[in-house]
Parts: sequence; C-alpha cells; structure tokens
Amino acid sequence: MSSNRGVVYIGPGKVEVQSIPYPKMQDPQGKQIDHGVILRVVSTNICGSDQHMVRGRTTAPEGLVLGHEITGEVVEIGRGVETMKVGDLVSVPFNVACGHCRSCKEQHTGVCLTVNPARAGGAYGYVDMGGWIGGQAEYVLVPYADFNLLRLPDRDAAMEKIRDLTCLSDILPTGYHGAVTAGVGPGSTVYVAGAGPVGLAAAASARLLGAAVVIVGDVNPIRLVHAKAQGFEIADLSKDTPLHEQIAELLGEPEVDCAIDAVGFEARGHGHSGSQQEAPATVLNSLMGVTRVAGKIGIPGLYVTEDPGAVDAAAKVGALSIRFGLGWAKSHSFHTGQTPVMKYNRQLMQAIMWDRIKIADIVGVEVITLDEAPSGYGAFDSGVPKKFVIDPHNLFRRA
Ligand SMILES: NC(=O)c1ccc[n+]([C@@H]2O[C@H](COP(=O)([O-])OP(=O)(O)OC[C@H]3O[C@@H](n4cnc5c(N)ncnc54)[C@H](O)[C@@H]3O)[C@@H](O)[C@H]2O)c1
Ligand SMILES: [Zn+2]
Ligand SMILES: [Zn+2]
Repeated sequence: MSSNRGVVYIGPGKVEVQSIPYPKMQDPQGKQIDHGVILRVVSTNICGSDQHMVRGRTTAPEGLVLGHEITGEVVEIGRGVETMKVGDLVSVPFNVACGHCRSCKEQHTGVCLTVNPARAGGAYGYVDMGGWIGGQAEYVLVPYADFNLLRLPDRDAAMEKIRDLTCLSDILPTGYHGAVTAGVGPGSTVYVAGAGPVGLAAAASARLLGAAVVIVGDVNPIRLVHAKAQGFEIADLSKDTPLHEQIAELLGEPEVDCAIDAVGFEARGHGHSGSQQEAPATVLNSLMGVTRVAGKIGIPGLYVTEDPGAVDAAAKVGALSIRFGLGWAKSHSFHTGQTPVMKYNRQLMQAIMWDRIKIADIVGVEVITLDEAPSGYGAFDSGVPKKFVIDPHNLFRRA
C-alpha cells in the first residue's frame, strides 16, 4: 500500500501537511468507480479561491484536503478508462465533470449536474463542491478521466514548460474566460480589477485576444509594480484619485469597452481609507461605473452563498449592495460562475507551447516543496506578487 501526504485545512488561518490516505477508485460517497485514474501529482498550485476557505470565509470543514489546480502523471487506470495510459502527463481541469449530463454536453462543465449531490458543480478539495479529495498532495484520484483530462502531448517538451502549463488547470483558462465573456477582441480597451494571479491571467488573455490597452487595478501597490513590469497599465486604488479619473488619465475618456472582476467577495473599498476596509460590492459597482454602454462585464471573481466572516448580515448570505439599476441603464451584460476550463485549456496549451503567452512569468510563478505549502499560503495571503506552485515529488528540479 502506497503512502500519501497532502495539505489539510485545520481551521481559520491554518493549514498543515499531513499523512492522508492513498487514493481509492471510489467516489466521495464510497461507491467503486471504474472511470477514474490515480495521478502522481507533478505540480499543484495555491489559489485565491483556497484563501477564501483558509481565511475562514466559507463553511469549509476542518480536515479538508485542499487543492484543485493539478497537473500529474497517470500511475493507475480504472477498468473503464479507454484513452489514457500509465505514464501520460496530464492537466486536470479544476472542475469535476461527468461528461454525460446536460450541462457537460453543452460545455458548461463548471456546473455538472451529477458530481455533487448538494448543487451543480464539482471540484477537487473545495467546500460545497462534492467532496472530491484535493490534489495539493502526492497522489490524487481523477474521476471520469477520459472526459476530464487533457494529455500534454510531448512529455519532455511539456516538462520544459511545466511552470506555464501548471496554470492550465485553473487561472489561465479562468482569466481567459473572464476576457472572453467581457467581450475582449482586437482593439478593445480593457479594465481588470485585481492584480492577483487571476487578474494577471485575465490581463494576459486580453492581450492575447488583441486588446489595444489593458489597465489592471488593485489596492495593493506591490502587485501593481509587478503588473506594470509585465507591460500593463495600472490603476492604484489605494490612492484617493477615483478609478474613472485614473482611466481618463490613461485613455482620454473615463470608460473602457470591457471589464473583468478578478477580485470577488472579499473586495476592499477604494481610496486611502476605503482600501483599509472590506466592501464587497465595490468592484461590481465600480465596473458598472467604468464600462461603456452596452459593454460586457466578466466576473470570474468568486461570490458565495454563505460567508461566516462577512461585514454585515446581508453579505453573510451573499446579498450585496449592488447598484444594478446602473448596469441596467447602461445595457450591460454580466457573466459569472465557475470557469468551464475544458472549453479553453487545449487552445491555451498550444499558445503556451508556441510561446504566444508567458503566463508563468506574468503571474510570478514560484515553485515550492509540499512541506513549504503552509508558508506559501502565508506569503500569498500577505499579498506578494506570486503564484505558488507546489512540486510534491521534486520533479521540477530534476526536469
Ligand atoms: N470563476 C472561477 O472559476 C475562479 C477560478 C479561480 C479563481 N477565482 C476567483 O478569482 C478571484 C481572484 O483570484 P486570485 O487567485 O487572483 O486571488 P488574489 O486574492 O490573489 O487576488 C485578488 C486581488 O484583488 C485585490 N483587490 C481587493 N479589492 C480590490 C478592489 N476593490 N479593486 C481591485 N483589486 C482589489 C487584492 O488586493 C488582491 O491582489 C478570487 O475570488 C478567486 O476565488 C474564480
Ligand atoms: Zn484555483
Ligand atoms: Zn456532467
């Protein structure tokens, strides 16, 4: 019997690397499955979505094994798996999807109807997402492997670009989805709220899609220095100059064609004193303010239905003070939800392999060991301009 170790949520502010069971060919209800594979994890990333749980801002249970951003090598195959073989290097979309329900057939793999008894949508290592065990670990089970997995075709070439390819499991498709649903195309002017890894991935995606100019805004000046170094314009929202004025200084007008929320429900207010406090509707309201009439707003930033740490009673159930009338008056379109990773990951893999996007440098990938995961969580939470990638078997160093 092989052993396994993983990153476990212990309680608000605390994660630990612990011994966990080696994966079984079983779903979270304990039913035997034959459509799964077991992966030796090659890389697995810490995400802003994990931070919501680790900050105690969700109902995540203690003892949850974390990790939904997984790249791995197939080491064991269920009897029903037809297209994967032992030794394949694969990228795992963070969505767990069955491939045969109506949502999956219509490419909405973020809201698969069968993998989570509680609601639509499954993911690894995430609260309310079906109980699939997380992949910030040495080994992990991937169900419906034929449907879910993206094989990285050339193993050696893939290992050379593994720092970039590790972003295919979530943040690059998520940023891209944000840009696509915001309507970004050649010549667009774009504002991205949030200079974290998802915001930077959205900004890079907007550039890939042909945007004329991309402005990234944040309340964290250190992240803005990094964004500027990646060639993006910036808006410093910790200053008292309002966002629309900062946009006007750059573009000659106070509005953009397309806007992306890469912040979510833990948004801070704007301005010198405002940015010291949480104000969860800030980003949505400011995006309606700065998006031109008939523009689209992509919202990959996460909003929840239960938030024990919310600023007020309404926000505790995800009800925010949104000025929806403004969006209505300006004929805005809004797009929310979990990214259907599979819709984009193959094309983005090609973009990486052919050097059309240097996503690892743009998001500041820093590779750490599994034992360094707790300090990676701490550093990420402090707002450093980095994306922490765990290398549980020290394969990067060898590659
Ligand atoms: N839809 C999806 O499928 C999906 C997938 C991955 C991540 N997400 C979500 O995307 C969001 C971003 O993820 P991340 O990993 O980059 O997280 P992150 O926490 O590293 O980045 C969020 C950034 O937003 C900044 N911010 C706070 N208030 C702001 C404001 N008013 N205006 C501009 N910036 C502000 C913070 O300073 C921080 O730099 C999170 O909510 C995460 O859960 C969603
Ligand atoms: Zn993620
Ligand atoms: Zn499905």
